Amino acid sequence: MKSSQKMANISPHPLLLLTFAALFILNSPATIFAEKEVSAGGLKPASKSQNERYRAVNELCNQRTSREAIDFCTKALKSDRRSAYAKDNVSLLLISVDLARGEINRTRDYYASILFKLQNKKSSKFVLALKDCVSAYDWGNEELSLIPTELRKGPAFAGYDAKIAHDALQRCTDTLNQHKISNHSVLARHRNSTDYVQLCVDITLAIK
Ligand SMILES: *[C@@H]1O[C@H](CO)[C@@H](O)[C@H](O)[C@H]1NC(C)=O
Ligand SMILES: *[C@@H]1O[C@H](CO)[C@@H](O)[C@H](O)[C@H]1NC(C)=O
Ligand SMILES: *[C@@H]1O[C@H](CO)[C@@H](O)[C@H](O)[C@H]1NC(C)=O
Ligand SMILES: *[C@@H]1O[C@H](CO)[C@@H](O)[C@H](O)[C@H]1NC(C)=O
Repeated sequence: MKSSQKMANISPHPLLLLTFAALFILNSPATIFAEKEVSAGGLKPASKSQNERYRAVNELCNQRTSREAIDFCTKALKSDRRSAYAKDNVSLLLISVDLARGEINRTRDYYASILFKLQNKKSSKFVLALKDCVSAYDWGNEELSLIPTELRKGPAFAGYDAKIAHDALQRCTDTLNQHKISNHSVLARHRNSTDYVQLCVDITLAIK
């Protein structure tokens, strides 16, 4: 009895095994090879499911106007596994909203952690600007959180929320400019968050 209990304690949880199995299949050489064939212009006919993979992502992202915007869209959406078989732009919008909120949360936490360290410099321009940005990010996050529900009323409602979220982050851009903040990591993270929110705005415009 005791030894079987011990066994049960050290044997991995079935879900963990399943996760490893899934990771192995997704990263297996066969999968990578198959993707290479497709991107090399289909030297060999790829299976239907390989062609279907990321089809909606590519269709959507390729409509953006600059190479940079296309690359950002593709890389961002492909970072979420749900994108592989997304069928429509509504699904991709919901994924982009999750990604944007995740990035907004990370950036907001980063800014808040700097503010925590600079508690004794309450009136420096850097601190004032970051405080403004934290509240702008909270506002932006809240607007984005409304999108899944508003979408049920129609794409224009979701588009409005995305636009307001973008305006919220623009307030951070304005305050960073106004106080002439040049800290590279602060600016790079803000740019990144703004790119994610712009992606949400663009996808709402693609939904008919
Ligand atoms: C998504 O939107 C893009 C850009 O407007 C469009 O080209 C594409 O066909 C749409 N995708 C689907 C699956 O409707
Ligand atoms: C971001 O933070 C908000 C508020 O703390 C939370 O409700 C939301 O689930 C977070 N979203 C992500 C994607 O982490
Ligand atoms: C940006 O600000 C943070 C927090 O004050 C600091 O740790 C970092 O070194 C700064 N980076 C640059 C490039 O000035
Ligand atoms: C932008 O966000 C993505 C996802 O979190 C991250 O991989 C990338 O390093 C970020 N870039 C910058 C400049 O912060």
